[in-house]
Parts: sequence; structure tokens; C-alpha cells
Amino acid sequence: MRIAVIPGDGIGKDVTAEAVKVLQATGEVFGRRFDLVQLPWSADHYLKTGETLPANGYQMLRDEFEAIFVGALGDPRVADNRHARDILLGTRFELDLYVNYRPVRLLDDRLSPLKDRGRKDINFVVFRENTEGVYVGVGGRFKAGTIDEIAIQEEVNTYKGVHRIIRHAFEFAKANGLTKVCMADKSNAMQHGHALWQRVFKEVSALYPGITAIHQYIDALAMFLVKDPGQYQVIVTNNLFGDIVTDIGGALQGGLGMAASGNIHPGRTSLFEPVHGSAPPLAGKNVANPIGAILSAALMLETLGAADESKAIERAVEAVVAQGQTTTDIGGALGTREVGDCIAKRITKTN
Ligand SMILES: NC(=O)c1ccc[n+]([C@@H]2O[C@H](COP(=O)([O-])OP(=O)(O)OC[C@H]3O[C@@H](n4cnc5c(N)ncnc54)[C@H](O)[C@@H]3O)[C@@H](O)[C@H]2O)c1
Repeated sequence: MRIAVIPGDGIGKDVTAEAVKVLQATGEVFGRRFDLVQLPWSADHYLKTGETLPANGYQMLRDEFEAIFVGALGDPRVADNRHARDILLGTRFELDLYVNYRPVRLLDDRLSPLKDRGRKDINFVVFRENTEGVYVGVGGRFKAGTIDEIAIQEEVNTYKGVHRIIRHAFEFAKANGLTKVCMADKSNAMQHGHALWQRVFKEVSALYPGITAIHQYIDALAMFLVKDPGQYQVIVTNNLFGDIVTDIGGALQGGLGMAASGNIHPGRTSLFEPVHGSAPPLAGKNVANPIGAILSAALMLETLGAADESKAIERAVEAVVAQGQTTTDIGGALGTREVGDCIAKRITKTN
């Protein structure tokens, strides 16, 4: 498997090193070769060369690699975040990675931030639409910097875009024996764009009579995620809402450092990354939690069809979490590298 590795900025570099370590250990245990090709695209690279990614960058990712792994992008020296926009958002759009897949699974009751809620209550997945919504950059600023400034940011919803993400959520539920899909929008206030979500949700859910289709307004969903997360199995929502509620999901898992994600176009080169950002104050200090990155590597292997290898990584992560061999953000006393070592050592073919 040929995989492009973009450590990026800040703690992205720290956690990617550990994900690579665990992938290599997994390759050795399973006798499989992962060809991990490091790409330097980052704030450092942009500031040095003026280039965010090369002219043929997206094509290269699409044609030469089976998957892409990203650490995190974002650096205070690049005030407009241009490199992050090109590398991360650009790849999502150019490679048409329309599924943002974010599993939310609590690995240990001890990490639950909610009173009386544990592993049995916090186990669901969020599918966030990843190529439309307010993140497409349609809009503009008029009279910028004056008291007459007008700033417009349009939300784009297409039938095709809404249909394929909702369909994906139902297909996932069906394939995994799940019985409930919840679609969250704000159709009470956003009566044009979200009326489309309502229409498509009704249309698609009718094709899956064995699955209960539930609708919630996004504000209610945010409240219920904290009050009663056990009611969810599969959540599907738009780009902006998905971005926000999966940070709540990260907190439910014990913290942002635990959360993994995939940016997927089924059957094509897809991108995997931890949910967290580059956390500049933690960078290079051997304190960042590498588990979100390592679980993202597991998601990558699952998506590439290496299910046994993926499960082996998840088992190893669960074991170190159960034993408290973690970074300080989730109550342990180890550094980033030491957590990576513990997980790599625990990769085995069976339990
Ligand atoms: N996908 C991405 O690459 C991505 C996502 C979000 C933010 N960003 C960028 O990252 C930069 C910093 O953004 P931010 O501070 O809002 O978000 P952040 O995720 O970097 O940090 C938010 C908080 O979570 C903590 N945290 C995050 N990851 C952690 C980890 N692995 N271990 C321990 N603690 C962790 C941080 O210390 C901080 O308190 C910005 O430039 C932003 O644009 C990038």
C-alpha cells in the first residue's frame, strides 16, 4: 500500500511520527508492506518556498497513492491559513472526498466527561457532508475594513451532494447491523437549503424500511449529545454542523486528542487525519496525545480493506488506555513517543 504522509504543522508532526511507528509495527506483525511517503507540505515549506503544494499536487495524491495521512495544519505565522486551506480543504474538494467519517467511541468509562455515562452510552458515528455547505468559499466582502462592510458567505446544498451523504449513512447502518439514522439540520430557520435536506432524507429513508429515520434540529442534537448520547447510532449532517458537533463527540471520547476521522470517496484515494488541530503551544514538547492520529491510521487500514490490521491497532489502543499508559490530557503520565511505543509493542495478530 502506497500512502502519502503529510505531518503538517505543530503537533501534527509529533502525532504523525507515532502513527507511522504503529503502522510500521503493524506491517511487520502482519507481513504487509506499507510504503509511507513523507511529503513536506506545511507552514514551514510554504514560508520557505512560497508554495503550498505543487501545481500537480492533487493529481499526484489521486494517481500515485492509495491513501493520504495528515497530522494537522495551522500555524500562527500564516495568518490567513492559506496553506491549510490549499492542502486540506483543497484536497477534500479536488478529490471529491464527500464523506467525513467520524466515529465517536468511548474507550474507557474513566474517560467519560458525563456523570453516570460510560462505554455503553457513547458509541456512534457521525457522517459530515464534506464538499459543500458554507465551506465552499462562495461569497465576498464589500467595503472591507470600513463601518459599512458587508460580508456574505453562502451555503451551498445540492441534491446530488445531500443525497450521496445521506445514502452513505444509511448504507453504513445497513452494513453494520444498526437500526437508527438521525439527520440533523436547521430547517426551521434555514428554510431553503435545509428544505432540500428534509426532502432527500424522506426520499432516501423510504428505501431502508428496516432502519428508523429520526430528524432533530441541530441545536437539540447538541443538547442531547450531552444529556443522552446513548440514543444515537448514526448521525448525518452538513459540513458546518458536523464540524461543530464532532468536537462535542471528541469531548465525549475523553478529549480532542482521542478523535479520529476519515475524508472518504468510497473506492477512491481518501484522506485520514485526527480531528484535532496543530495545537501550537504543545508542539515539539512530547505531550500531545497521539491516539486520535493512531486511530485514524486504523480507520485508513479499515477503509483500504485491511480489517484485521485495523482491529489489531484498535485492540492495542484499548489496552494501553485501560492500563493508563497515556498522555496527561487523559490522566496518564507518559509522553507522546512513549504512548506510541506502548501501542506499537502491543500489536498482535490475535487477542
Ligand atoms: N484538521 C486540521 O488540521 C485542523 C483542525 C482544527 C484546527 N486546526 C488548526 O490548528 C490550529 C490550532 O487550533 P485550535 O487551538 O483551535 O485547535 P486544536 O485542536 O489545535 O486545539 C484545541 C485544544 O485541544 C488541545 N488538543 C488538541 N489536540 C490535542 C492532542 N492531540 N493532545 C492533547 N491536547 C490536544 C489543545 O491543547 C487545545 O487546548 C489553528 O491554526 C487551526 O486552524 C487544524
